[in-house]
Amino acid sequence: MVLSMDRWVGKVAIVTGASSGIGAAIAYALVEKGLTVLGIARGAERIEERAKQLSDKKGKLHAIKADFSKEEDILKTFKWAKDNLEPVHILVNNAGRGAKANLTEGETRQWKKVFNLNVLGLSIATREAVKVMKENKINGHIIHMNSIAGHQVLNFEVPSVYSASKFAVTALTETLRQELNQQGLKIKVTSVSPGLVESEMTNLHPNLTPEMKAVYEKMPILQSEDIADGVVYALSTPEHVQVHELTIKPIGEKV
Ligand SMILES: NC(=O)c1ccc[n+]([C@@H]2O[C@H](COP(=O)([O-])OP(=O)(O)OC[C@H]3O[C@@H](n4cnc5c(N)ncnc54)[C@H](OP(=O)(O)O)[C@@H]3O)[C@@H](O)[C@H]2O)c1
Ligand SMILES: *[C@@H]1O[C@H](CO)[C@@H](O)[C@H](O)[C@H]1NC(C)=O
Repeated sequence: MVLSMDRWVGKVAIVTGASSGIGAAIAYALVEKGLTVLGIARGAERIEERAKQLSDKKGKLHAIKADFSKEEDILKTFKWAKDNLEPVHILVNNAGRGAKANLTEGETRQWKKVFNLNVLGLSIATREAVKVMKENKINGHIIHMNSIAGHQVLNFEVPSVYSASKFAVTALTETLRQELNQQGLKIKVTSVSPGLVESEMTNLHPNLTPEMKAVYEKMPILQSEDIADGVVYALSTPEHVQVHELTIKPIGEKV
């Protein structure tokens, strides 16, 4: 067994969308492993609450209020991290969203929200993290929270641009891998693609319609912790091993 989180102990990780669901589980797992985690969300109060509960753990959780669909917020966050913490070693681009806006009648404004966060926010944060890693000669790790919807169009979801935005994440993962290779950098990039996960994006959404609730109840589902386990696995591999794509489905998933 060569898996180990030892080299990350005491290092800084940025986790976006850390206030709920998958991001909260990842932040928790990394703090337990002894990392200093900078958790990002628009509603950062929820991260502050969790930080208090984690005060007896090996690592530490900081909360930052930021909207990662906005470039100025992303730049401010990296500036804060630079001024206040050790250099960033890990970036988990987890914040993501869908929209109720189909392609035939949906609003452009809603489509933009999805691309601004899932594609542009992820790309801007990645660029800023790579900059820090290069400056400090860090063999860091960038993790993109993708989805099975980033590899196939699922026909049970609200038809929208969500799947297209996740297909972009699949392409951005491989493009980044190639770019890092061309520059001889040993920064890793991993796409994690979950199937259905219990979260506020899915069956725990506060505005869930009875119809969607019934759909979700029939489907096998993962817990956020299952995805956090996958992230810890990818991070634990030896320096020469890159988990490029990690697909995690609940057993029995139909799609
Ligand atoms: N749940 C699933 O079945 C599933 C499956 C495959 C992939 N995924 C992906 O997994 C990731 C996490 O989803 P989840 O299911 O854990 O959803 P969730 O419970 O709704 O959590 C989303 C998180 O992102 C934050 N967020 C949303 N918009 C943001 C913004 N503009 N700037 C900063 N943070 C923002 C939210 O906090 P605030 O609202 O306070 O900002 C929250 O912390 C997403 O990328 C999603 O596409 C989910
Ligand atoms: C597409 O969106 C419009 C406007 O929101 C809505 O009225 C319509 O029912 C939707 N169509 C489908 C197939 O979801």
